[in-house]
Amino acid sequence: ARTVERGEDGVVRVGGIEVTRLAEEFGTPAYFLDEADFRARCRAWADAFGTEADVFYAGKAFLSRAIVRWLKEEGLNLDVCSGGELTTALDAGMPAERIAFHGNNKSEGEIRRAVEVGVGRIVLDSFQEIVRVAHIAQELGKRQRVQIRVTVGVEAHTHEFIATAHEDQKFGIALAGGQAAEAVRRALKLDGLELIGIHSHIGSQIFDMAGFEVSARRVVQLLAEVRDEHGVELPEIDLGGGLGIAYTSEDDPREPQDIAKALTEIVTRECEAAKLRTPRISVEPGRAIVGPTAFTLYEVGTVKPLEGLRTYVSVDGGMSDNIRTALYDAEYTVALVSRRSDAEPMLVRVVGKHCESGDIVVRDAFLPADTAPGDLLAVPATGAYCRSMASNYNHALRPPVVAVKDGGARVIVRRETEEDLLRLDVG
Ligand code: LLP
Repeated sequence: ARTVERGEDGVVRVGGIEVTRLAEEFGTPAYFLDEADFRARCRAWADAFGTEADVFYAGKAFLSRAIVRWLKEEGLNLDVCSGGELTTALDAGMPAERIAFHGNNKSEGEIRRAVEVGVGRIVLDSFQEIVRVAHIAQELGKRQRVQIRVTVGVEAHTHEFIATAHEDQKFGIALAGGQAAEAVRRALKLDGLELIGIHSHIGSQIFDMAGFEVSARRVVQLLAEVRDEHGVELPEIDLGGGLGIAYTSEDDPREPQDIAKALTEIVTRECEAAKLRTPRISVEPGRAIVGPTAFTLYEVGTVKPLEGLRTYVSVDGGMSDNIRTALYDAEYTVALVSRRSDAEPMLVRVVGKHCESGDIVVRDAFLPADTAPGDLLAVPATGAYCRSMASNYNHALRPPVVAVKDGGARVIVRRETEEDLLRLDVG
């Protein structure tokens, strides 16, 4: 995170607080999140898109009440994809009209609640859902604002599990074969729905704007078809999230300003060509906002040199607090932060304490050769999809999230306890 600094004394401070003090006070493993950085990123996105567009933070990356309050204060909207996220959002005071509700299989209960509380939009993901949402809205005497999520057929250059716009996967309705046009036809006929636009999300951890360019072009083509067939110009398009962040020095992310400019230009150009009014654009960055704002602090437990291979450094967490390395071959860096060391670098693999060999936090890294039990290690850029995908595998206790700001630190999500585990176990 931005406020992590190594002083001349070799001690690392976060927002002015020594990491060793943080470890003493909050324990390890723990996530430390820089509130000022989070808010600055929210503002950068909001400012970049200005008043002509809407930024929806994707709550799946990491959501808590504090996050919701910060989003609200910084003027962002929120994308939720489950009843649980919706509850968190409402509980922390996010106005329902600033919430977008996603998901490929929302339950009837979830839809009903979303319609009742009046979410700003529901993103429809299938033909069944078009009818389901329309019925529920009608029953409740409401007209629900909706978008239709389409798959535009783009191959996003990212891991297969986080690419979502190719056709052979579960999300959205294909533009190909006139499927999406048919979905629009049906949605426009249903009284319970107010179709406000088309949604496309092409994947995650993407650096190349070419995919967004194709996606925007195809969505605008659909808007033109809809205009030609129904005489209706849908007023909004959502281009999803997916902008990449720097996990290692090889990653070169673009600034929100650049992204906003590129997307707005593409949409404007395509709309001019199709003689359409430019729709209001929205985007849904999750990782790009919260990812860089947090790091995980671990304590080293064992160090095991394997002759001619590498040294395995075991920390007190692992795949239960960061599944991304095991699941997506994600790359992270690691640093010794509790003291200065002038020892030679050694090749290490940072592993967790779970009962499987795939439990890797950082696959290949260098740490000082004198790294030893008791040392503290920081893994940066763990703000997105780490706490939110954390598990209780091996009955691990999920770590706390501590917000650091102006030399102060406070827990925003507390550490799980063994009582928490036992409370759920009612057998
Ligand atoms: N909008 C929609 C409809 C999405 O499905 C997603 C992410 C986003 C926005 C936000 O994407 P972001 O800007 O955060 O990339 N667990 C994976 C990422 C899964 C992303 C799922 N959808 C990971 O850890 O890389």
